[in-house]
Parts: sequence; C-alpha cells; structure tokens
Amino acid sequence: MERKNKVLIIGGTGYLGQHLLQRLSQIKDTPFDLAFTHYSTSTPPQPLLDAIPHSLAFHVDLQSGEGFQAISRQFGQPHVVVNCAAISVPRACEKDPATAMSINVPRSLINWLSSFQERYTLLIHLSTDQVYEGVKSFYKEEDETVPVNVYGKSKVAAEQFIYKKCSNFAILRSSIIFGPQTISPVPKSLPIQWIDAVLSKGEQVEFFHDEFRCPVYVKDVVAIILSLTNIWISEHKQMQLLLNVGGPDRVSRVQMAEAVADIRGHNAALIKPVSSSSVDRGVISPADISMDISKLVQTLNIVPTSFKDGVKLTLENA
Ligand SMILES: NC(=O)c1ccc[n+]([C@@H]2O[C@H](COP(=O)([O-])OP(=O)(O)OC[C@H]3O[C@@H](n4cnc5c(N)ncnc54)[C@H](OP(=O)(O)O)[C@@H]3O)[C@@H](O)[C@H]2O)c1
Repeated sequence: MERKNKVLIIGGTGYLGQHLLQRLSQIKDTPFDLAFTHYSTSTPPQPLLDAIPHSLAFHVDLQSGEGFQAISRQFGQPHVVVNCAAISVPRACEKDPATAMSINVPRSLINWLSSFQERYTLLIHLSTDQVYEGVKSFYKEEDETVPVNVYGKSKVAAEQFIYKKCSNFAILRSSIIFGPQTISPVPKSLPIQWIDAVLSKGEQVEFFHDEFRCPVYVKDVVAIILSLTNIWISEHKQMQLLLNVGGPDRVSRVQMAEAVADIRGHNAALIKPVSSSSVDRGVISPADISMDISKLVQTLNIVPTSFKDGVKLTLENA
C-alpha cells in the first residue's frame, strides 16, 4: 500500500483549523493522513469528527506540552505541521500576557519536533499583521517589526523562536481572516457576520475610518497552506519562508461595513464613521497595517480574492 504524507494541524478546532481540515479531507483519493489537536474540551466537537472521519484527534496543551508523546506513538513524525493554535484575541492577550506568551510562542511544539529527524518536517506557522507598528501603508516582509500590543509581541517572539530553532518553516503573517462559519461554530464573533448582524438591526453603528487592514478570505489562506504543503512534499528542498498573507484590498473598518451594507441591501447611512482614538478597546490596535502581498503572489502564484467577492461568498448562505 502506498504510504501517505502525514499532516498534523495544531489547533484544528479553531476557525482556520476547521476550514483547513475540511478542505484537506475533501481531496479525492487524498494523499494525506490527517491528525489534529484540540484543547479546551476533552473530545473534539462531534460535527467536526463527523465531517472528517478518517483523521486522528489528540488532546494537546501547548503550555505544558502534554499530548505530544501520544502523537509520536499513534501518528508518528508528521511531514507537515500547521500551527493554527493561539490566543488569537488581542484583548485576551492584553489581560493575561504570561499565558499569551506561553501559548503563542510554541516552545513545546518545537521542542517536540526537535526529537525527530528535522529535515523531514515542515512547520507552517500562523503569525499576524499585528507584528507591524501601523504607521504607514503596505508593509513589506523586510520592514521592521514594532508590535504595539501583547498579541503582536507574542507573535514576534514566536517568529524569532522559529528562526532560531527550526530548519524548515513558513511563517504566514496573516491579516484578518474572514469567511463562512465553521462546521462546529467557533465561540468568537466573525467579522463579516458581526457587521451584517449589527446593520440588520437598523440602528446607527460606529465604525473606524482610520484603521486599515487587508482582510483575507479564509479559503485563500487554506489554498496557501495547501500549496506550501504540496511544494514541500514534491520538492523536499530546504524552506525558510516569511510571507505577508492578506487580501488584495486595503480597507478601513468603514469600507468593510459599506461593502457588507451594499451586498446585503442595508441602509449605508447607519454606518457612522468615527476615529479609533475615540474608543477604549482595552488594547492598543495598530492604525494602518495594510500589507504588500507581492511576495505571496510571486512565490505561490496565488492571487487572493477581492474583499467584495469574499464578502459575497461569505454571506451567500448566511
Ligand atoms: N482569525 C483571524 O482573523 C486571524 C488573523 C491573523 C492571524 N491569525 C492567527 O491565525 C491562527 C489561527 O487563528 P484562528 O482565528 O483560527 O484562531 P482560533 O479560532 O482562536 O483558534 C485557536 C485554536 O487554538 C487552540 N488553543 C488555544 N489554547 C491552546 C492551548 N493552550 N494548547 C493547545 N491549543 C490551544 C484552540 O483549541 P480549542 O478550541 O480546542 O480550545 C483553537 O483550536 C492563530 O495563530 C491566529 O493568531 C488569525
């Protein structure tokens, strides 16, 4: 029987992790053996297990490293590990910096990986646009990282740790990831669905006119991870890659709301532009962390979906 390549997703129960698992399990005659980790519940959600019946699930705590030895025993050395696990809400990181650092810098994962023949495993790690300071437009990968909050600092520390300890990696600095809800709904609110819900109430809502991002459609992020996985498996050449992962459009929060209003037929007059400095969110949020994604497009030949098309696809079945 042909041996399949092993793909392990850390944080398979999260927003990106579930979308990734769903896509990988849909590949016809899949060349992958799949495993994923979950954390806050003793068993993964049943709808997720039903959707990906041929995968192995492991309970893993990144803080303590508990659970990795079971993966060694039952799954073995993965060819590709995608780290989607994190404390991904900046306000939560601000409240508990020690926990944010201990989870977002994946020391236990990387120490575990170092017990294997390292040249056989590629680590694909999710970082963030919040490593940038937010004082200019269209950051490039080589621009200095100046994180302004704990979340960004923990992600910079993670990147530095990976550079120091790993031989083969791809670090993806992702902007806001948006798209449809997951098979098993995630607890955090999804950006497009949230805007749609508040505007549909018919009440005036404040949005920032001076905070800019390059939101990226979730299926594009999945396609990027799949492309990197295929390159690694087919070429097996050393990889040390840092990529900005964003959509092609730089949009303010007001423009995000306007796109949703336009597509859903909500009254655009409900959108009240305000400055981000007028609201205390319990965490500093960088103003303009729009990114230049030309390296992504050139390296992988993937052109991400426009913001407007992504919003249409997101709300199609909502
Ligand atoms: N979503 C975005 O807009 C966005 C933007 C930029 C970058 N990113 C980055 O992309 C990655 C994926 O984001 P996401 O939105 O999919 O995250 P998410 O929905 O918040 O999922 C986080 C995942 O981390 C797991 N986890 C939390 N604490 C853990 C621990 N102590 N040990 C092991 N696993 C733990 C969770 O497991 P349980 O659910 O089972 O507890 C869950 O699977 C993250 O690194 C995030 O920082 C996301």
